[in-house]
Amino acid sequence: MLKVGFVGWRGMVGSVLMQRMLDDNDYQGLEPVFFSTSQAGQDGPDIGMDVPKLQDANDIDALKAMDVIVTCQGGDYTNAVYAPLREAGWAGYWIDAASTLRMADDATIVLDPVNRDVIDKELARGTKTFCGGNCTVSLMLMGLGGLFEAGLVEWMSAMTYQAASGSGAQHMRELLVQMGDLRDCVSDQLATPSSAILDLDRDVTARMRATDFPVEQFGYPLAGSALPWIDTIMESGQSKEEWKAGVESNKILGRNGDPIPVDGLCVRIGSMRCHSQAFTIKLKKDVPVDEIEDLIANHNEWVKVVPNEKEATLRELTPTAVSGTLTIPVGRLRKLAMGGEYLSAFTVGDQLLWGAAEPLKRMLKILRE
Ligand code: HSE
Repeated sequence: MLKVGFVGWRGMVGSVLMQRMLDDNDYQGLEPVFFSTSQAGQDGPDIGMDVPKLQDANDIDALKAMDVIVTCQGGDYTNAVYAPLREAGWAGYWIDAASTLRMADDATIVLDPVNRDVIDKELARGTKTFCGGNCTVSLMLMGLGGLFEAGLVEWMSAMTYQAASGSGAQHMRELLVQMGDLRDCVSDQLATPSSAILDLDRDVTARMRATDFPVEQFGYPLAGSALPWIDTIMESGQSKEEWKAGVESNKILGRNGDPIPVDGLCVRIGSMRCHSQAFTIKLKKDVPVDEIEDLIANHNEWVKVVPNEKEATLRELTPTAVSGTLTIPVGRLRKLAMGGEYLSAFTVGDQLLWGAAEPLKRMLKILRE
């Protein structure tokens, strides 16, 4: 039986992973061991089976006893533990939600509905390190995988609308606190339908700019606004989030030697846990939209083409509709005014499911096949 160590299972992504594993009865046939950075020796979580006491997540010897380690603990933990563990001779499988190791030569980015062939090839040649991809990248490829598989994409630009959850749990809370604060600052005017809207707007804007507006997490107001920068700056002038779109997409697709240009602009907006993306896709040839819809829809069992109609779009192609589900709707599919080779598309995906926990959960299953 595979001994699987779980680290960071109490955090947001870890909790989603645990729940998904429970939903699908994934713990059966495994020997799960839960690690903690702060509560070693305490009882493990209730997963409907006996589990040992929590082990110390920094204890290399305890980690070495695992066949597989699944970590959602974050990049600092990976930085601290991965190299010493390998140097200590550990040859088990490391499955990681963090970005730290993604671009390393000996690591594979997992998104099996898109790159099962790459994963199988890497397993066969003895690769032992597997990382979940950046959330926008994974959600984009789950939606548009059919176009890449058909070799139709010459280049692509992604404009993102990213949820607060991508920054972390505390950021989600702060978004709601900001929303409530703005509402509260004009509650009297809202209760008076005849109040002047421009006065109300002026008060809201003043509140957002006030020095005591709650911005400890984001650093800036997000509620009522948009933040067109995610992560650090790269030499290219891209934000790191924008840089990842190109390098990670091509690595997932196994195209590092012949990369498809993927670039865009990443923006944080006030949604909770669903990332949305608007694409401009330059196709290699002018393919009719109905064929494009078929290619997209037939790629995997989670993608769903939404007809380019107002009602269907506003009903099905929003964070509100998608949150908490594995469905990846793709819509707004139409040719752009630039010509028949230029396609527009919009997709939405749950950043914590396909964007984080699901590819790791599935990689663990692949190891058991
Ligand atoms: N970097 C992403 C974001 C998180 O900030 O939304 C998931 O990779």
